[in-house]
Parts: sequence; structure tokens; C-alpha cells
Amino acid sequence: MHEVHLDVVDSTNVYAKKHCKSFPPGKITCVTADEQTAGVGRYQRKWVSPKDVGLYATFYFTLSLNTLHLASLAQLMALSLASVLQKEGLKPEIKWPNDVRLHGKKISGILCETQFHPDHVDIFLGIGINVNLDAASAAKIDQPATSLFIETKKKWDKKEVLKKLQAQFIHDLERFKREGFGPFHKQFDQLLALKGETVRCFDGKKTWVGICHSLTEDGQLNLQLPDHTFHTLLSGDIKP
Ligand code: BTN
Repeated sequence: MHEVHLDVVDSTNVYAKKHCKSFPPGKITCVTADEQTAGVGRYQRKWVSPKDVGLYATFYFTLSLNTLHLASLAQLMALSLASVLQKEGLKPEIKWPNDVRLHGKKISGILCETQFHPDHVDIFLGIGINVNLDAASAAKIDQPATSLFIETKKKWDKKEVLKKLQAQFIHDLERFKREGFGPFHKQFDQLLALKGETVRCFDGKKTWVGICHSLTEDGQLNLQLPDHTFHTLLSGDIKP
């Protein structure tokens, strides 16, 4: 893995998009920063990125155009982080599509951006993890948020967390390239937050209300509607 570390940057995703042509071809480049001044989340939201307390990373790599289930890459990263946290004795859940949570609060968000070319696709897979964020700072975030520090009452070494995540992701990505999201489906389904609960989701056009039922083979969400039919969500944000 090729690593680029920056003290401060607007956003590691923006940096990776600007500089990817100079990254070594055929390798994963991981861009990290101690602080982001304009961290971006999904749906043009901000990602609060104070100095040192969080892990801010973008994994850049290319995939062939015929890669299966490209739209599930962010979910793959969520699972890689969940595996790392499980090995640390924690009990993560994933709120579909890719928010990693501990005790019902968000600890990590993932933003996957793609750029299609005639013969390959560039992937910019950004992940923010609240590592040593304190409770007062977490309370200022506009949705229930937590950190490894808040959950375990000990300070974590960001570099160690990053190393473990990189190793797990390299391993998971190799399998994903060969077999798509299929082999990860069961693990994801087992970690699915809000399962069996009524949730709502705005898909850009209308708000769907239904029971958070199950995951399709490629990572989409089946909602069971009040008339017992199913609606499959491709993307969106579910709320209890
Ligand atoms: C979300 O939950 O809305 C996704 C948040 C993604 C944040 C990460 S932090 C590293 C990378 N750089 C960014 O500007 N965003 C992603």
C-alpha cells in the first residue's frame, strides 16, 4: 500500500481526486490527514474533522469496469471496520447503507466516489472514524455520535487502528474483486441495525416507510411496506 500523510488538508477525498494521476498505478494509495478543514460527508453534509482525534482516510484504487457490485464498495469498507472493531471486543452494527455504529451511535461514516473511464473506474473510498473524540465534542455533532474513546474510556493509537483497517480492507477487497458482495452478505445482514423496526427513507423523490427487513444479495435494502409488499432501496438514509 502506498501511503500519503498530510498534517492538514481540506478533504482527503478531494486531495486524492486532484493527485491520483501521480499515485503509483496498480496499487492502493491511502491518503490520511491529522485534520480536515472541509471534510465532506454523504449528501453534501460536512464531516467534522478536528485535529488528531479522528482518523480521516481515503483509499484510492482502480477497478475494471466489469467488477461486480461496484455500488457496494462503501458497505465493504463498513464491514472491514466492523471486523476490526469486533476483534477489539466491541459490538458494532451497521446502519444501512454504511454507517458503523456502537450502542446506536455513529462512530464512522464512509463516502465512496467514483470516476468512470473507458477502460477502468477510479475509486475514492473515504472513511472517517471518531477515535479519541471526547463526549463534549461528540455532543456537538448534528446526529448521535460516539467514539472509541467514549465507548472504551481509553485513548486509542490512531496509527494502530489505521494499520488494522488497511490489512482487513486489503484482504476483503481481494475477495470482493473475485466474487463481488455475495460472500459478505451474511455478515452484513447479521450486523444490520434497526432490523425489524419501522424506518423511513427519502429516496430523492418520496419518503418510504416500512420495516427494515433484509438485505439483497448485492447490498440493497428490502423494506416491507404496510401492505406487506417489498420495496428495495438502492441508496438513501434510513431513520427510525
Ligand atoms: C458520511 O457519513 O456522511 C460519510 C463521511 C465520510 C468522511 C470521510 S473523512 C475522510 C474522507 N474525506 C472526506 O472529506 N470525507 C471522507
